This record gives sequence, structure tokens and C-alpha cells, in this order.
Amino acid sequence: MKILYTTTGNVKKLNLIPFFESENPLVFKEISVNPTLFSGKKDTTFVMEQAGNIFLFIGLGKTADYKSIQTSFRRISAKQSNLFDREAALFFATEIKENEIEAAISGLWLGTYQLGHYKKELKKNPLLADDFSLEIVSDSTVEKAVERGFKIAKAQIETYNLVDLPPNKVTPDFLAQWAKSAGEKYGFEVTVFGREKAIDLGLHAFTAVGKGSVNEPQFIIMEYQPSEAKKHIGLVGKGITFDTGGLNIKTAGMVHMKCDMAGGAAVLGAMQLIADLKLPYRVTAIVPACVNSVDAHSFLPSDVIGSYSGKSIEIIDTDAEGRLILADGLSYLIKNYKPETIIDIATLTGSSVATFGNECGALFTNNEALSKKIQETGAKIGERLWPLPLWDSYKSDIESEIADVKNYSGKPVAGAISAAKFLEFFTENHTAWAHLDIAGVSFIDDEFAKTKHATAFGVYLIANFIENL
Ligand code: BES
Ligand code: ZN
Ligand code: ZN
Repeated sequence: MKILYTTTGNVKKLNLIPFFESENPLVFKEISVNPTLFSGKKDTTFVMEQAGNIFLFIGLGKTADYKSIQTSFRRISAKQSNLFDREAALFFATEIKENEIEAAISGLWLGTYQLGHYKKELKKNPLLADDFSLEIVSDSTVEKAVERGFKIAKAQIETYNLVDLPPNKVTPDFLAQWAKSAGEKYGFEVTVFGREKAIDLGLHAFTAVGKGSVNEPQFIIMEYQPSEAKKHIGLVGKGITFDTGGLNIKTAGMVHMKCDMAGGAAVLGAMQLIADLKLPYRVTAIVPACVNSVDAHSFLPSDVIGSYSGKSIEIIDTDAEGRLILADGLSYLIKNYKPETIIDIATLTGSSVATFGNECGALFTNNEALSKKIQETGAKIGERLWPLPLWDSYKSDIESEIADVKNYSGKPVAGAISAAKFLEFFTENHTAWAHLDIAGVSFIDDEFAKTKHATAFGVYLIANFIENL
């Protein structure tokens, strides 16, 4: 796609005109629209043809919110791609704010994403053609917001791909290779430890989970270090490329468990975006990636395993594997890099889905300021989070009789909280650590596909949180 910026803007074959809700009739150039037909209400559009040109008016509502602008534009490029031929003009009135332009552009680009990776015949979205020309018409300077919109969507689409591709394609090694090539392209260092190296280093909780798979575990470390970095942020993302449950095999919902690396994929996408936006912050990110499989070599319920921290862990349930690899990810990050702020992100528990459904992720932190900042960032961009407690009274749930800690309470209650308490046990009392349980929001059913698919929840949340630190 080619992008052109103009101030006057001639009418094209296709014209996209976002419009805020108003009691006054819409007037655009010589066109005026009867308010009973279209008044700019949120989630509405109005299409008309005049002299062979199509005018598509897009309702933004009275006060626009980021997510609904993004979704409105995504709807257009995803579901009305037949309207796009070789060119389009997009008219931004002066009252549209930068973040609204960003939402519109990112939505437009997200709509080009399709799930038919393995279809013999898949018609590419016309916007993806090299010679498709998009003219952006505005009297204000919009270049920066437009560029940001594209960068955000590009990173989110990378995450869509990683989560939506099947687990026989997206192995731990696939994630490692992705990280290496993104590192080269966007400018961050990538180090990867395979099984042997991870065992040598003492990442025993991580390697225990991967034991039952022929696909070798990969401990992926990414370091983005711009000169004159303002702060150092650490990230950890759960990279279970498939979760069978292990020997405590899943009896429900296993078919969706390719999504169990969505936290890792969010961290990978966020690293691309952070580097692409050249954010002036040092970021160290770890994605422990492995498969939780069933095999003669699998770890066993009742095994006692070691961990990078030196603490021993009693395995009550092999399906509570995410917290094990995150424990080593967090310990390794804290011991070797000492970041000032740490966020981990994971499809960690069914319990968080039972609590919040698909509406928001669960947020855990003892740091009030951090909690506020993450919630505010999420609310602003439509990736909502809501806090759950980390009270010490929940600690007894993970106290083991025979080891330093156990990986599951054995009780069907407060699962998201005891999982978070388990992670906290490996954070060495870090004062600015937050855990995001995104099991309910990273892989969902919505209007854009007939099957559950990735949302890239966390990519922009993390990048935007960092840039506003
Ligand atoms: N990967 C799952 C959590 C999950 C559930 C992710 C639904 C996405 C959607 C996790 O590893 C898991 O199996 N958690 C168990 C833990 C339990 C056995 C202690 C759960 O929450 O049921
Ligand atoms: Zn599991
Ligand atoms: Zn899992």
C-alpha cells in the first residue's frame, strides 16, 4: 500500500469519511445526508454513490472510544473489502484527535488479516496490494498518528499469526526463530537456550514441563537497549505452544490450547512494537517456550522438581504448568537483569475466565501506582484489566508438606489468585511486579471469524504502558 498525504483531497472512487454524532445534518463537500438516515452514531455506517464514486460515512459516536473506532474501521476493511479497488481517500476532519486517527488506521490494517493460512485459494485483501493507494486528507498534521497506527497493527498482526497458526507449525523453535528475525529487523538482541543449556543453568521448573515433547524447549531472551534509556522494564510471557494438560490430561477445551502461548506472543509483538516505535526505555523480555505433552518422559503428578530460584516445587497437577515456566522466567529475569518494573502476561487459569469471561484480564500487583497505570492504559485502548487480591491469607493454598511450594491447591476455588500467589513466591519481593492473567481475553469468538481467534491482547497495552512511564 502506498500512502499519500494531502490537505484538499479530490474525491476518489472510494471515500471513507469518519463522522462524529451530531444533531446537525452531515454535510460533506456537496453531499448532505438526512439525519434520519445517518447521524454518526457509534457502530453505524452509511454508504451512498454519486457520479460513480462511493462515499462511506463511518459513525464515531458522540465521544469516540478507541476500541470502537478501531473495530468500526476493521469491519470496513475486513467485511467490505469488495468496495476497495485500487485507491481510496480517507478524510480526517480537524476535530479528530491523534489517538482516534491511530485507532482508525490500526483498525483498517487489522481488517486485512485473515485466518485462512492453509487455504489453497485465499483472496488477499485489496489493501495489501503494493500499488493500492490510500490518500489521507486532513488540514492538520496526521502523519505521526497514521504511522503509529500502522506500526501498532503490524505488531498485532504478527501476534495474531503466532497465536492462530497451529501448534504443529508454532513450536518453541518457531517462536525462537521469530524472535531472532524480529530482533534483526527491528533492533534488539536475542539469546535462546535449548534444553541442555537450560538444564545446565538450572532452569529446572521450565525444563520439567517440556520433558514430554519431542519439540525442544526454548528459553527466549530479548534485550532492547536504546542509548540513554529512561528506565528498565522486564517482561515475561507464557509460551506454552500447546497445553494438553500433561498426564493430568485435559478433559475439556484442549482443542483451543494452541492459544496457550498468547502471553508469549504478546511479549514478542510488544518487543517488535517497542523497537519499531524506538521507545527510549530499556526492555528485557523472556519467553519460556515449550510444549506440555503426554509421553513416557512427561513429568508426573507428585514429582518434586527444582527451579532456577533454588526452591523445590511439588507437582500436584501437571496442567498447572504455566506458573512453572513463568517462575523460572521471573527468577532468571530478576537475578540476571534486575529490571525496575516487571510485567508477566499469561493465559494462566480457567479461573480467570470463570471470573471475568471475555471482558477483561485479571490484574495482580501489590504496587498501587503500577496497578493504576496498567488499568488506565488498558481502559484507554480497550484492553481492560481488573484487579484481584494477592492477600497473604491465600498463601496457605500453595504450601507444600514436602517441598518449598506446591503448584496447585487441589481445590476448585480461587484458582487465578493461588496461581498469582505462586508466581509472587518467585519474584524475590520485587516491589514493582504485576501479573496479567489473559486466559479469557486473548483468544475469543467475535464478529471477525467463525472460530476462536487471537486478539493480540497485551501488545499495545505493554508498549503503551512503557511509553507513558
Ligand atoms: N492453559 C491453561 C489455562 C487456560 C484456560 C488458558 C482456558 C486459556 C483458556 C492452564 O495451564 C491450566 O490448565 N490451568 C488450570 C490449572 C489447574 C489445573 C490448577 C486451570 O485453570 O484449570
Ligand atoms: Zn495447563
Ligand atoms: Zn497452560
